[in-house]
Parts: sequence; structure tokens; C-alpha cells
Amino acid sequence: MREEHLNSGVQYFQMREIFPCVWQDGKHLFTKNLVPGDRTYSKNIFKFKGFELREWNPHRSKPAAAILKGLKQFPLQKGMKVLYLGIASGQTATFFSDIVGKSGIIYGIEISDRSIRDTLPLAEKRGNIAPILADARKPEEYEWIEDVDLIFEDVASDDQTPIMIRNSERFLRKNGFAMMAIKARSIDVVKSPDEIYRKEIEKLKKHFEILDKVKLDPYEKDHLFLVMKKI
Ligand SMILES: C[S@@+](CC[C@H](N)C(=O)[O-])C[C@H]1O[C@@H](n2cnc3c(N)ncnc32)[C@H](O)[C@@H]1O
Repeated sequence: MREEHLNSGVQYFQMREIFPCVWQDGKHLFTKNLVPGDRTYSKNIFKFKGFELREWNPHRSKPAAAILKGLKQFPLQKGMKVLYLGIASGQTATFFSDIVGKSGIIYGIEISDRSIRDTLPLAEKRGNIAPILADARKPEEYEWIEDVDLIFEDVASDDQTPIMIRNSERFLRKNGFAMMAIKARSIDVVKSPDEIYRKEIEKLKKHFEILDKVKLDPYEKDHLFLVMKKI
């Protein structure tokens, strides 16, 4: 069925919803825009079945890359409470915001005050992003937040595994989900990425069941994306 594409001029014929609120046509991924007309972090928006889709760039967002690399489990859903470690300027968070919708919330932790400043207009516009200037190594700095359904971590540091474990012990509800991209080169510049992934997974397995994993190459070199469930 031919759909009207206001901006792209491209026709998508195989569009289907592959996860709740995530749509795919070939190599193109989309979410349903929570703020119709807003083009922040996505130039390609268009009308589809009475709502608006915005394109999610896999070169700029690791979860999008993971989905296009064949991820089978993507637990993020409408209404979820999310703790996002390393929200940066909020690019990926805007797509998470589309998915969790108005009934969900994203607590976004970021250590750089320059980056967090960029998230403030997004937070105002979207109403479901709460940017927090803090160090993800120190959960006590934001201990006032409520327990969450999912933690996403994208801090690219050598201690990313202990950071995830510490935050999940403090804030992740029983049977809650966790997603992270292990960046091999942040952990060790010499060892083979596969060796690094194996060691990090060993540590994570004491706290999580590993539900799914995919390598992000060629979108992100030497990254492994993990989807986990708290045990
Ligand atoms: C790869 S970028 C995140 C990109 C972002 N997730 C996105 O997709 O839009 C990593 C971010 O983590 C932040 N970061 C690094 N260490 C941190 C820490 N200990 N606590 C909080 N944020 C940290 C960096 O300042 C940077 O903005």
C-alpha cells in the first residue's frame, strides 16, 4: 500500500511494526513521533497510517544499530520507567521517549554539563525525559529517583560493567531489563574484542540472564550490544 511521505519523497512498501512502536522497512528504522512536526535528530519524518514516523539513524544510535543487526529481543515498551546512563545530548533518548510515550519516563544521567544543556529543550518539549547532571559511578547522587523497569547504559568507559551492576542493584526492579553496548576499545586497546566480551559477560552473568547479543559492526566498530534480565 502506498503511503504519503511528506518529507522524504521515498516510498516505503514493506513497512511493519517489528517491536512495539518501532517500525522497519529494509534498512530503515522508525519510531512514532511523540511530538508531531518536531525534526530534532531526524530529518526524515512523514505521515503513515494517520500518525507520524521519524527515522532512527543506526549510525548515531546503538540500539537502532542492534535492531538492524538482527536483535530478537528489545524489551523497551510504552509506559516503562527507564534509567539512561550517558544520555549525552539526548539523541537516542528522543527515540526511547517516542517508544515509552507520555505514560513513561526516562531519567537521563550525564556527567558533562555541556551535553546535558542540549537535553533541556528536549525535556521541555517531550515531557517524559528528566535530565540529571551526575556521575553514573555514584548512584547516591541521584538516589531520589524511583525504581525503574529498564536500564540502558552507553557511557563508553573501562568500568562500564561495574557501573551497570551498581545501578541495577540500586534501581532496577525485580525481573527488570538492562541493555548496554560493550565498547571493547574502552576496556582494553590490545586484547581481542571477543576475549573482552567473554570476560565482561562472565561478570554480568552473576547478576543478569543474557537474553540476546549482537555485534554492532559495521555501524560501530568493536561493540557488542547486550539485552539482559535481572536475576
Ligand atoms: C557515547 S556517548 C552517549 C551517546 C548517547 N547515548 C546517544 O546515543 O545519544 C557517552 C556519554 O557518556 C557520558 N559519560 C561518560 N562517563 C560518564 C559517567 N561516569 N556518568 C555519566 N555520564 C558519563 C559522556 O559524557 C558521553 O556524553
